[in-house]
Amino acid sequence: MTHAQAEARILELREILRENNRRYYVDNAPTMSDREFDMLMHELEALETEFPDLLTPDSPTQRVGSDLETGGAGVNAEAAIRNDFVQRPHRYPMLSLGNTYSIEEVEAFARRADKALETGFTYCCELKFDGTAICLTYRNGRLFRALTRGDGTVGDDVTENVRHIANIPQQLHGDYPAEFEIRGEILMPYQAFDALNREREENEESPFANPRNAASGSLKLIDPEEVGHRGLWCTLYHIPAESLRFETHDAALRAAQGWGLPVSDERRVCRDIDEIRAYIDYWDVQRKYLPFATDGIVIKINESACQTALGYTAKSPRWAVAYKFKAEQALTRLVSIDYQVGRTGAVTPVANLDPVQLSGTVVKRATLNNADQMGILDVRIGDFVYVEKGGEIIPKITSVELAARTADTVAPEFPSVCPDCGTPLVREEDEAKWFCPNRDGCPTQIKGRILHFVSRRAMNVLAGQATIDQLYALGFVRTPADLYDLSKYQLMSLEGWQERAAERFLGSLDASRQVPFERVLFALGIRYVGESTAKEIARHFRDVDAIAAATQEQLLEVADVGEVIARSVYDYFRVPAHLDEVARLRAHGLQMCVEQEASALSEALKGQTIVISGNYSISRDAMKELIVRHGGKPSGSVSARTSFLLAGSKPGPEKLKKCEQLGIPVLSEEAFRALLPDVPDVPEPETEPEEEQQLTLF
Ligand code: IVH
Repeated sequence: MTHAQAEARILELREILRENNRRYYVDNAPTMSDREFDMLMHELEALETEFPDLLTPDSPTQRVGSDLETGGAGVNAEAAIRNDFVQRPHRYPMLSLGNTYSIEEVEAFARRADKALETGFTYCCELKFDGTAICLTYRNGRLFRALTRGDGTVGDDVTENVRHIANIPQQLHGDYPAEFEIRGEILMPYQAFDALNREREENEESPFANPRNAASGSLKLIDPEEVGHRGLWCTLYHIPAESLRFETHDAALRAAQGWGLPVSDERRVCRDIDEIRAYIDYWDVQRKYLPFATDGIVIKINESACQTALGYTAKSPRWAVAYKFKAEQALTRLVSIDYQVGRTGAVTPVANLDPVQLSGTVVKRATLNNADQMGILDVRIGDFVYVEKGGEIIPKITSVELAARTADTVAPEFPSVCPDCGTPLVREEDEAKWFCPNRDGCPTQIKGRILHFVSRRAMNVLAGQATIDQLYALGFVRTPADLYDLSKYQLMSLEGWQERAAERFLGSLDASRQVPFERVLFALGIRYVGESTAKEIARHFRDVDAIAAATQEQLLEVADVGEVIARSVYDYFRVPAHLDEVARLRAHGLQMCVEQEASALSEALKGQTIVISGNYSISRDAMKELIVRHGGKPSGSVSARTSFLLAGSKPGPEKLKKCEQLGIPVLSEEAFRALLPDVPDVPEPETEPEEEQQLTLF
């Protein structure tokens, strides 16, 4: 691979990984399985090792994912979620674990530890609980604070919500230390998860993809009482610092159990790799009978002195490693295939299956992705197929059990016309999918666009598939703007709708007028414009007219926007019907510009486009806000229009190079601050008592 090819692939991988990190940690709606994610991360790590000059401090390989709710963004898989939690620093960073997928990799971990350590040691093997990480602080035996992992350095303060989780004690007993932190996982047991999703479907709310997302969404609910009704459950597995006063990790956890804390009894102290292997083999099977989700085993060096000797890398401890289970598979019969038309017209084959139990839930449908994939799998109706759960709610078919194929199986035929409106399907070059080109006449596409518009992550209007189907069938709506013309009496004519339901619906439409512009932009359903791209575009141009007037070249200046997205946005605003729709939505009072952010501090940076790169004394988001509040415009990439590059510590080498080529000044944080009038930028963080701050890592 050439340097240029590596650079292109590295940039691509970072974009994919960042987007997925956001979906996983912030939206609780991942679109990729953990395994796929880890594979891409490994590929990126390997490329960065081979081409070290391309490694930048902001690479996803250098930081842990972040679950921080970034006020205002509000795109989340849960309607009643708070995005304004107080954020507090972690006393010790919350790190992640290195992943392994084979016993050989675990052996390599054991060998590394053996080589580095001078004394004998043991391992403590535990289940890897698949929930959302939590950090609890107990002060004088009382639960004092609960923080989410956040970005590893700063977490959301969810203390009030955590107080409603039944198995987390408010008060400890025994000889607990005066103050200590303990970390673990918040889980949603399968039973509670199924009940929650059933309820959501009844209310026409989209279900959570898996118990982990449900747990992390529930933890961030606005109403602490509601958190208590979600059936969440906690298990604790790590006491930073304090556990070092015990000889072993196992002894520290035993002590914590003695103080009344919920610690899993499934852990085992193992003396060698054979015992570790036996533990893995046992739980690889037995985990299917656990009432909650696990995705692997964590192997920790048990002796505290050995942990200290091994220490940490920037991302994870050297004294522990995770072994990830292979995704569970189930074998079942493929009964038939539906061809589903999406809101963009893309046709997806979805298999109907004989219901089968898989990772705690019953699976009846699985995706086959596209025509090519069907061909590669060589799947036939009546075949026995293996299904696997990825990150998405619909599992996928991964292979066919050819040995079980019978003569009466039938090769499926991919349709040549739209199953909904009969228009001949088309397939463009470079596209994996067949499309129905009848954008404005195909009912499924029209309804799909409206459904996307009302969805929780877009305008969050209380309407699901059934409501949209009825509104469409009665001829009441053809575009999202029609929703805002509906009267209470029209709504009361819908089957099963009473006055109250109509009022609730109208209330949610009314509330959607406050939805921030970036989500309105996402709701428009412009092809390739996902949530984070919509956010970047909105923040860059600040209002819809500026976006509609932008050239493709100007669109390319937005961070994350490449040729394909720029063309798609440009084309969208060249269609008169779209401009008309936007005008109607504006007339209905929807937000069409970025809300004035916190009051301006000065006009010191007026007219300046500033590219930021590297790390600063404050977070990057705070830095962006600081620029905006002084009248400047933060931007993601260096171009001829850039006024200057604000280089923090370790700025990206590509950006520096480009500045040099274009003759753009590079300012240090200090030089930059000298441009600003003397006003405080961010509120002072709440300081902890002095002695606490002096404690160092581990
Ligand atoms: S120990 C310093 N033990 O997995 C490392 N983590 O991928 C402390 N997890 O962030 C973590 N079960 O959220 C540890 N028995 C276990 C775990 C566990 C699940 C999660 C945890 C961590 C992530 C790393």
